[in-house]
Amino acid sequence: MNFIPTDKIFLIGMMGSGKSYWGKKLSERLHFDFIDLDEELVKEEGRDINKIFQESGEQYFRDKETELLNRFIVEKEGFIMATGGGVPCFNNNISLMNNHGITIWLNESPEIIFRRLLPEKIHRPLLKELNNEELFDFILLKLAERKAYYRKAKYIIKSTEITDTFNNNLISL
Ligand code: S3P
Repeated sequence: MNFIPTDKIFLIGMMGSGKSYWGKKLSERLHFDFIDLDEELVKEEGRDINKIFQESGEQYFRDKETELLNRFIVEKEGFIMATGGGVPCFNNNISLMNNHGITIWLNESPEIIFRRLLPEKIHRPLLKELNNEELFDFILLKLAERKAYYRKAKYIIKSTEITDTFNNNLISL
């Protein structure tokens, strides 16, 4: 993968797939600005994601995601963005991202996603009520539903290749 400084790069995939972790690393290496869409949304709303879901509902949250995504696309050149796990699956955001930049799906395995999400499910509105078994089932279900959208990414990186791809110059400028 070769990028130029004006590219808008969108990392997509399930919660716990490493979008923020790799997004930060990649942005440092390529000297691109890093944007975490969830963090920007929380900043703008002045309340955390659990609160937004509780007080205003999921549809409000999804529309805010789309609004912010649009704003960055219009106003900013050259960035790497970690998108929330649901972003590509609502409001035709996947087409928007594909039309204006480069999408990369971190196709992490359900087992690894499960291990990463266990200790932090309390912070995520869609997960916090689930016990361990329900959490794993939820991950499988969401992956099955969301694959149709994630698959539209320009690049797909398999679980076993994520570390290698990002660490070993398979991504360059
Ligand atoms: C969500 C993923 C979260 C956050 C919200 C909903 C989802 O983002 O946007 O809790 O629907 O998958 P991360 O994927 O960055 O955890």
